[in-house]
Amino acid sequence: MSQASPVPGFKEPGSNEHGLKEEVRDFWNADPCGSRYLGNRADFEAHARARYQLEPYIHEFAGFAQSGGQRVLEVGAGMGADYLEWLKAGAQATGVDLSNASLEQAKRRCEMAGYAPDLRVSDAEHLPFPSDTFDIVYSYGVMHHSPDTPQCIREAWRVLKPGGALRIMIYHHPSLTGFMLWLRYGFLRGKSLRQSVRDHLESPGTKSYTQEEARAMLQGFEQVEFRQAFSPGDLLLNEPSTRFQGLLYRIIWRLYPRFLIRMFGDKWGLFLLISARKPGAGLGTSQILSAPPRQHEQ
Ligand SMILES: C[S@@+](CC[C@H](N)C(=O)[O-])C[C@H]1O[C@@H](n2cnc3c(N)ncnc32)[C@H](O)[C@@H]1O
Repeated sequence: MSQASPVPGFKEPGSNEHGLKEEVRDFWNADPCGSRYLGNRADFEAHARARYQLEPYIHEFAGFAQSGGQRVLEVGAGMGADYLEWLKAGAQATGVDLSNASLEQAKRRCEMAGYAPDLRVSDAEHLPFPSDTFDIVYSYGVMHHSPDTPQCIREAWRVLKPGGALRIMIYHHPSLTGFMLWLRYGFLRGKSLRQSVRDHLESPGTKSYTQEEARAMLQGFEQVEFRQAFSPGDLLLNEPSTRFQGLLYRIIWRLYPRFLIRMFGDKWGLFLLISARKPGAGLGTSQILSAPPRQHEQ
């Protein structure tokens, strides 16, 4: 695994954005994604089992089973649960992440399972790969954390082969998770739903997108399909984190009307699952490189 640090290829358009990316990296280095689910069973298989129980749609969305022999790039591989699924399926998979601590865990996970991973510390906004390299670019819960999300998508487009498949999950606005964070942190401080997500969900600056905003970022792709899903947080399926301790939260977790919420459909789900395809031929890079609109702050 490459140990390059600071991350090669950092874009430095302004000191604020550069500072934010470092904050994002430090956040995930301090708390690699998903480590909270390990609990007392510090065991990668248990972690993966819990993940796929809580998010049962991942396998179908990612299409691990059909990826044998494909060249796959996972952007933001985190602790490597999905990355290992690509390897198990026989894909030629490369994983990148800003967080070295996360990739160390991913590397151990793969080696303990008997695989030799190709994991590199890299920035999704500046991927260290030539254009037209991968059959599939997969990224689950990552690009909304990066300061320039449209640039992450442009990079995914660039490194995909013509006809290659993009499969990404980014956070949706509005969502039940956003609403709960707003009630807990935003309401009394005059913050919007989006500001509550940005400041209190995960790494600083986390964004969320309407379907229309996401579509605007996907200019240059075709066969764009959206699906919304509830996150474990939307349904309070996780154990309460340290931020939500005490009798009130225990009562909320116990009485939360999960059945009713599921009946509303996935309109308020946090997860926006997006599949799209890079056109097979005839579309020039310049067409995707024209900057798509940024998310509107509300
Ligand atoms: C919520 S975790 C998701 C990890 C993994 N995909 C999963 O589903 O468990 C977000 C991950 O995105 C990574 N990340 C954030 N910004 C990034 C960027 N610009 N380039 C690469 N990785 C990034 C973080 O380091 C972190 O590991």
